[in-house]
This record gives sequence, C-alpha cells and structure tokens, in this order.
Amino acid sequence: MQSEVKLATGALVSLAVATAALVVLPYLQVRDIQPPEGLKPYTSAELRGRDSYVANGCVYCHSQQPRDKGFAPDAERGWGRATVPADYVYDTPHLLGSMRTGPDLMNIGVRQPSQDWHLGHLYQPRAYVPGSIMPPYPYMFEVKDQADAGEVVVKLPPGQGPEGKVVVAKPEALDLVQYLQSLKRNYPILPAEPQAAAQ
Ligand code: HEC
Repeated sequence: MQSEVKLATGALVSLAVATAALVVLPYLQVRDIQPPEGLKPYTSAELRGRDSYVANGCVYCHSQQPRDKGFAPDAERGWGRATVPADYVYDTPHLLGSMRTGPDLMNIGVRQPSQDWHLGHLYQPRAYVPGSIMPPYPYMFEVKDQADAGEVVVKLPPGQGPEGKVVVAKPEALDLVQYLQSLKRNYPILPAEPQAAAQ
C-alpha cells in the first residue's frame, strides 16, 4: 500500500509543478496586458481572412513573431521590431508559427500594402517571385471571359494570366488579403521592463 501512496503523491506533485509552471505563471504574466493604442481589433472581413489563413495552412510556412536582434537579424530583413505580448491581444488562436519556409508576416501590411500584389501573388506566386516554392491558391479565384459588375479583376504582370480571359478574386481571396494588409505592428510600444526605459 505504501508504494501506491508514494506513486500517487509523486504523480500529483509532478502535475501540480507542471501546471504552475506552464499554466498559472504564464497566465499571471499576461493577464493584465492592455491592447496598445495603435492596435485595432480585427474587422469581420479580416477575421474571415484569418480563418482562411488557418484553413489553408499558411502558418506552416510563415511565422508571425519577428525576433529580437540578439536572436535573429529579423529587423534587418525588414520584418519589423521584436513583438511584445500586447501585439497579440486580439489573436485567438495565436499564429506564431514555428517554420520559416517563407518570410515572417507579422508586418506584411507595412511592407506590402498593395491589394493587387497580394491577389496576384496568391493566384500565382511565381508570377512575382520566379522559382517561388509557395503554392498557388487558384481555387480562391475564378477564370472567366469577362468580369461582372463589382467583381475584382486580378492585375497580373504581363504574360502571366490565362490568354483572352480574366481572373477574378472570390470573396475568400479578398478577405484573406484584407487580413494580410491588417498585419502591422509598427506602432510605438512602451518598453516591456521599466529598467529598459531608464537606460
Ligand atoms: C510551402 C510553404 C508556404 C505556404 C504553405 C505558404 N507560403 Fe507564403 N511564402 C512562401 C515562400 C517560400 C515565400 C517567399 C517567396 C515568394 O514571395 O513567393 C512566401 C511569400 C509570401 C508572401 C510575401 C512575403 C514578403 O515578404 O514578400 C506572402 C504575403 C505570403 N507568402 C502569404 C501566404 C499566405 C496568405 C499563405 C496561405 C494562403 C501562404 N503564404 C502559404 C512559402 C509558403
């Protein structure tokens, strides 16, 4: 009997330590974080775009966490300053990502604001970056003889579109591009630590 009690106690203690370290402490660290002034909540179109970012697996190739220059030259790559927890207050679930097959996208809205570019790049990445290994997403578009009123025609570089036809963006592509354009974490942030401000 004694060894069962030891086993059960040991298991409970391990679980308590793990819960404290992985759930309670992180919760206490981030629970009071306020949204920065420069960060707006996502609009409903941007949220739909975010869902399709998840559904299409963009997160498997793109991170959303530019790092401090002590870890990686992300700022020199043009990916923006290192992010702080407040940059993610509206991100549920977070899309930090762990793979960087493609560039970090946390500030893609700053570096590439053009809707035309994003639509064309989603339709065919290689029309913009020769040899790109990013997959094209043709099912977010429709190839037609001519566009109907109110439809957004994708402006591809010369010679890249289907001959004699137009490519129009479906609502999914437009929402996804709105989400990408909203990715801007270039507002000023207060230093995370008071000591940093004093220096
Ligand atoms: C298999 C990996 C892979 C997947 C999946 C992927 N990408 Fe990419 N992406 C890349 C690579 C590699 C590049 C760099 C070459 C290029 O621009 O095409 C890139 C570039 C980009 C760029 C331009 C970044 C810049 O700094 O110029 C954007 C925007 C982008 N991807 C968005 C997306 C979105 C949105 C999705 C999901 C619908 C997606 N990617 C899925 C690999 C991927």
